[in-house]
Amino acid sequence: MSKLKTVSFLAVGLLLSAAATLAQAAPNAALNAKFGVCFSCHGVDGHAILPTYPNLAGQNKDYLVQTLREFRDGTRPNAIMGAMAKPLSNSDIDQIAMYFADIKPGSK
Ligand code: HEC
Repeated sequence: MSKLKTVSFLAVGLLLSAAATLAQAAPNAALNAKFGVCFSCHGVDGHAILPTYPNLAGQNKDYLVQTLREFRDGTRPNAIMGAMAKPLSNSDIDQIAMYFADIKPGSK
């Protein structure tokens, strides 16, 4: 392979991997700002970082909405999640529920 070909090959490879990185980062940038704290326990991919935390990937969206409202409103009392859900609006809850529900379970 000529030097020029090798260089352009590398350049295309770099562009592709940069595009792939952007594609992964972009949808999460806004979510990270808002829900980064959730990801610190439940994982950005919905797979919990510790075995004592629940995995949320692929969980039913309606269940996630319901249980987050219960944590927030105190009808499902839990010290950690009560505090976590407290500042969430109904639309925040819909957004994060949709996010976790859309992840394929086991796709770690
Ligand atoms: C410090 C770790 C931690 C953080 C941060 C955290 N969670 Fe949790 N989460 C837990 C634990 C532990 C449970 C299990 C609570 C229980 O026993 O009911 C839980 C439960 C849940 C459940 C219910 C799962 C089920 O199967 O019933 C949902 C939904 C949830 N968390 C979403 C969130 C969201 C959204 C955020 C961010 C706003 C968040 N969590 C932040 C640790 C955490």
